[in-house]
Amino acid sequence: MDRHKAIGLLDSGVGGLTVVSEIFRHLEGESIVYFGDTARMPYGQRPQQQVRAFVGEIIEFLHTQEIKLIIVACNSATAAGLDYYQERTRLPVLGVIEPGVRAALQQTRNSRVGVIGTMGTIQSGSYQEVFRRIAPEIDLYCQPCPLFVLIVENGLVSSPEAVRVTEEYLAPLKKAGVDTLIMGCTHYPLMADVIQQVMGPEVRLISSAEETAREAREVLQAGDLCHADEGGAIQYRFFVSGPAQPFEEVAFKLLQREVKAYQVILNHQSAVFEKQ
Ligand code: DGL
Repeated sequence: MDRHKAIGLLDSGVGGLTVVSEIFRHLEGESIVYFGDTARMPYGQRPQQQVRAFVGEIIEFLHTQEIKLIIVACNSATAAGLDYYQERTRLPVLGVIEPGVRAALQQTRNSRVGVIGTMGTIQSGSYQEVFRRIAPEIDLYCQPCPLFVLIVENGLVSSPEAVRVTEEYLAPLKKAGVDTLIMGCTHYPLMADVIQQVMGPEVRLISSAEETAREAREVLQAGDLCHADEGGAIQYRFFVSGPAQPFEEVAFKLLQREVKAYQVILNHQSAVFEKQ
């Protein structure tokens, strides 16, 4: 039986921990294996083909860890090729873009929705495509915020520079009068305070993390794969491609628990995914 296996998550760095924290809330009984590709972040400025190759290597690594479901807990990686990963993997693979769109649709009152993300995510047109497909009536305003990931990874969220950069990026969305703003990068909920401060209290911020955790629960339930139904030990394993300590510090703040991370050097020998 696969129920005892873990949920595998990946991101370019600490951003996917926002999804992990929702998994702790919504899927309490599940084991987790997380991979943060900190040595190669940020993904948002990289060509999509390269991001797909990186993600492919990580998925192959996750397969060595007894997993039953993969969550691509990174918008840039989801935008670069969710179908591509799904076609090459026998496990269910979830992304974070559609869950975020669905959450925004439940919240908007004036049908003006903003999306912020990395350059790669916004330029891929992935959000635009999902809105066109499931909610064409929405006026969508997309804005890349390329510096946000570096602000988060470097622990500068509370700095005056973070406020200044946020004001600059978000000015067009404020002008457009969006009432709902999707934080279309899993790093951005870590900047939610400053984003909310700049947008004003009446704008609803959407993190796709919670909706993604709900979707993961549905997939596990549908496949009769919930560990909680079986009981037994739960394990949390964290891996990074860069140094462990900075990751552990952010993880501790975000998850409110000690996290031990292990550095893994990927071997760039993907048999299934395209190579660079
Ligand atoms: N958390 C990733 C995302 O959701 C960050 C991307 C990056 O590394 O630039 O897009």
